[in-house]
Amino acid sequence: MRLILLGAPASGKGTQAAILTEKFGVPKVSTGDMLRAALKDGTPLGKEAAGYMNNGGLVPDSVVIGLVEERLQLADAKPGFILDGFPRTVPQADALEALLKRLDSARGGAGAPPTHGIDFIVQIDVPRDLLMERATLRRTDKRTGQIYHLKYSPPPPDAELEHRADDHEEKVRTRLDVYDAQTAALLPHYEKLGLLRRVDGVGSPKEVTARMLSQIAG
Ligand code: AP5
Repeated sequence: MRLILLGAPASGKGTQAAILTEKFGVPKVSTGDMLRAALKDGTPLGKEAAGYMNNGGLVPDSVVIGLVEERLQLADAKPGFILDGFPRTVPQADALEALLKRLDSARGGAGAPPTHGIDFIVQIDVPRDLLMERATLRRTDKRTGQIYHLKYSPPPPDAELEHRADDHEEKVRTRLDVYDAQTAALLPHYEKLGLLRRVDGVGSPKEVTARMLSQIAG
């Protein structure tokens, strides 16, 4: 299974990716998680990405494309992957397609690869006011990486909660504007290729998963 999850900031990509990774037995590949880990570890990559991330902007294409190229070559991604937060621009989408072509021809012998290297692309649609609420009240357990929401998915009392620096209201607003200006352009791109499915992201995570599975199956 090679699945791309698209959607605005806080639309539920990470939540759904965590569920689907269990279901399909393929890794979740989240560029946001990889960049945050690099930032926390103070690596050169983290230092380069920090300014962009803290301002709610996008990290340059060349940096994230390099990250994803390395990650998808690891053995655990051979049976498939769930991409969360990548691609986010048309150049990233083009680079992904070229990478998957290279990987498929280098690996060979495993049957015909899917069209454009991808099985499904699912866009999670959520209205802006709800996105704002989902982002600003999101908390993550720093030990387990589990995502919670103070209103919709309250954490247990022993969780060690982190509030992402880019989840404060002003930053969320910027991220939503960046999404509208740069990432929404991917939808017509994938629509033209006939790969795009859209799912209503309003409802409980379980309801959203069920909608996604019916899109993928159908
Ligand atoms: P990234 O981490 O990818 O952030 P994002 O796309 O803004 O997405 P989020 O992680 O905010 O939200 P999500 O959709 O995963 O929602 P979640 O499931 O957590 O990227 C961060 C930054 O890194 C970017 O701004 C950029 O700087 C950089 N970056 C990353 N990738 C890049 C790329 N490809 N190119 C360039 N730069 C890149 O849910 C949100 C909240 O809602 C949670 O609290 C959750 O519990 C709750 N929730 C989820 N589903 C439901 C539901 N159905 N009902 C009620 N609550 C729900």
